[in-house]
Amino acid sequence: MKKKLEALRELQAEARQGGGEKRIEKMHEQGKLTARERLEVLLDEGSFEEIDMLVRHQTRDFGLDKQRFLGDSVVVGTGTIEGRMVCVFSQDFTVFGGSLSAAHSQKICKIMDLAMKIGAPVIGLNDSGGARIQEGVVSLGAYADIFLRNTLASGVIPQISAVMGPCAGGAVYSPAITDFIFMVKEKSYMFVTGPNVVKTVTHETVSFGDLGGATTHGTKSGVSHFTSANDVDCLMQIRKLMSYLPLNNAEEPPLSTPKDKPGRMEEALNDIIPDNPSKPYDVKDVIKLVVDEGDFLEVHAGYAANIVVGFSRMNGAPVGIVANQPAVLAGVLDIDCSLKAARFVRFCDAFNIPIITFVDVPGFLPGTAQEWGGIIKHGAKLLYAYCEATVPKITVILRKAYGGAYDVMSSKHIRGDVNLAWPSAEIAVMGPKGAAEIIFKREISEADNPETALAEKEREYRDKFANPYLAAEHGYIDEVIEPRQTRPKICRALALLRTKVDKNPPKKHGNIPL
Ligand code: HXC
Repeated sequence: MKKKLEALRELQAEARQGGGEKRIEKMHEQGKLTARERLEVLLDEGSFEEIDMLVRHQTRDFGLDKQRFLGDSVVVGTGTIEGRMVCVFSQDFTVFGGSLSAAHSQKICKIMDLAMKIGAPVIGLNDSGGARIQEGVVSLGAYADIFLRNTLASGVIPQISAVMGPCAGGAVYSPAITDFIFMVKEKSYMFVTGPNVVKTVTHETVSFGDLGGATTHGTKSGVSHFTSANDVDCLMQIRKLMSYLPLNNAEEPPLSTPKDKPGRMEEALNDIIPDNPSKPYDVKDVIKLVVDEGDFLEVHAGYAANIVVGFSRMNGAPVGIVANQPAVLAGVLDIDCSLKAARFVRFCDAFNIPIITFVDVPGFLPGTAQEWGGIIKHGAKLLYAYCEATVPKITVILRKAYGGAYDVMSSKHIRGDVNLAWPSAEIAVMGPKGAAEIIFKREISEADNPETALAEKEREYRDKFANPYLAAEHGYIDEVIEPRQTRPKICRALALLRTKVDKNPPKKHGNIPL
């Protein structure tokens, strides 16, 4: 037995070495943690249970029969985060650049199948050169096996991807189907094809970073949701994100014990809206004053900043927050921010997270760039997402709610459960100036002084329509509240809606305007 035990321990030690000391050193020199070190940071101490440590690839071509690393290029298993079970895989760049062989894929598929059976999230730490080139079409099929599982698991268990190294080809599509992507500054890249192929095909010269670095995907493409300073920061951020999420779609999100009182009045909110309606303010100040202890995990912070989305807690219960941002492009709805918010709303709805919407929106952004870019179909995605969401939906109109954007932003008509407005709310078909120019066109053009006439008509329209009271008269607003009451009112509404049951008609699936 002694000898057998020694043999087992030797195999385990060999597997833990991955691609060998030299390649591990190279990772460290590049400021990166190895696949196993990453799991140690991500998971609760000592909680990692590895499976398939002794799996090897079965390829014989191109000299691969002489390079059969134990575990192949991925470390897989289960562990806990704050005591809650998660399934994990961590690609090992020291073995064939983390590339995906059939064996590697089988390991990931096995852990994903387990995650679906037990209802646990899958967290994938990606660091891979894509399909194992020596395996040819087998590795393409192996990728497809993962894509299928990603898709079937979507909306059932949370799927989180960290991209922690260069990820090319197939290695980007699995993260793209998952719910959240984290990237590490200066260390991770995502592209379908690298700079060399780009140069050959389009004659563009572009660096790795500009083509697919963390900043590019966190600000330009919106492919990634979180940008981290380094590996440890990324893994800690994943732990934080997990603290807001249920383990699966049949579970409620985890409650914590709040230090903040649900009835806290916040006097500062009464002075937060500038007297001049065209003056901006930072909606994140409103969010932080309302939520538990000012805690807000912003998602997509660097992308489409004219809308703010993220997770917070109210009286200890996780909530998703969507807020127009008047400090950026006046909070207008455009293509990028509609996509950003629609995706967030759908995630919250899939995982039983109530949505709180703060509204201050002048409307949809006009112009050829938006129209030709398809603002109609992209704006419709946000509308669709709010319409189909059945989780508790609480809306607070802070200031502007004009035109179609009023309808879209979780209005009463699309199943907003509790719709509140501050006295500063302006709810109308369009802004007073635009409205006056259209409905008083003749009077203004025939006036001795058209400018004064326009200003007068604008005031008339503002006095009549730019307030919350007409909407309240129709019952479209449940209550006009003082801004300082916002937190207590939302906490009460959430308590009221804890037992909410709402359903959509049975169907295979809807046809969101993609
Ligand atoms: C097999 C690979 C590999 C791959 C890297 N390696 N990528 N082995 N298949 N796809 C190996 C290298 O041979 C090397 O082995 C080790 O991993 C480290 O690679 P380096 O090139 O030395 O590292 P680095 O300079 O950091 O560059 C990393 C990289 C580069 C940017 C990822 O290796 C690269 O461009 N790889 C190929 C990317 C790619 O085109 N993949 C195929 C995509 S097609 P040694 O033994 O020297 O350590 C695809 C199709 C799927 O994925 C489509 C599904 C929809």
